[in-house]
Amino acid sequence: MTTIDNTDRTPFDWEARFRQNDTPWERGALHPAFHDWAKAGLFKPGLRVFIPGCGRAPEPEAFARLGLEVTGLDVSESAIAWQRQRFAEAGLEGRFLVEDALAWRPHTPFDLYYEQTFLCAISPRQRETYEQAAFEQLRPGGLLLALFMQKAERGGPPYGCSLEAMTALFPATRWIWPQAEPVAWPHPSLGGKAELAAVLERRAQAGES
Ligand SMILES: C[S@@+](CC[C@H](N)C(=O)[O-])C[C@H]1O[C@@H](n2cnc3c(N)ncnc32)[C@H](O)[C@@H]1O
Repeated sequence: MTTIDNTDRTPFDWEARFRQNDTPWERGALHPAFHDWAKAGLFKPGLRVFIPGCGRAPEPEAFARLGLEVTGLDVSESAIAWQRQRFAEAGLEGRFLVEDALAWRPHTPFDLYYEQTFLCAISPRQRETYEQAAFEQLRPGGLLLALFMQKAERGGPPYGCSLEAMTALFPATRWIWPQAEPVAWPHPSLGGKAELAAVLERRAQAGES
């Protein structure tokens, strides 16, 4: 297990928020974009999906029920314990680790990277580290399933992820952006702010197949 420097990486005390049940980002149901992407056939059984900052979201279980191989990471021990218990009670298999998702690397890169209120929860100063980590955690041709939080006010978390900033963060030399405009989904508890759903394909670099 890598050492987590929560204070340095983010001043937000996630563990305390979970312990106090002060978690307004939780939807309490599957994200509507999850249903859209499932209907579009992106979630094929056997695919390996990575869920950084998984918290207590229900999507890991939904992926496992669809037959995907789930790996969830979080810096919060309580959140990881919650996911492990939920999987154990449901008789499902999944891997949940207390790790810094920006520092951790898998032995084999993933097919899918499910990004739900994680990028918008970390400091914007860490965004380039996030992009590099996601690039290395996904295989060439792997998909980043992104939900970019739209928020104009300064500060956070969540921090706003304008499309302009996201286009610069995920450059076309490394990521294939969808042709269609991203779908906007209002968040039910974060003041109804929209999250833009976009599927980005991780490009192969020279020497990669
Ligand atoms: C806004 S919450 C979203 C949780 C979950 N994705 C959801 O949609 O309910 C952000 C999550 O990221 C986790 N987190 C923050 N920084 C992290 C890091 N560097 N590595 C792993 N998890 C982190 C927090 O503990 C928290 O669970």
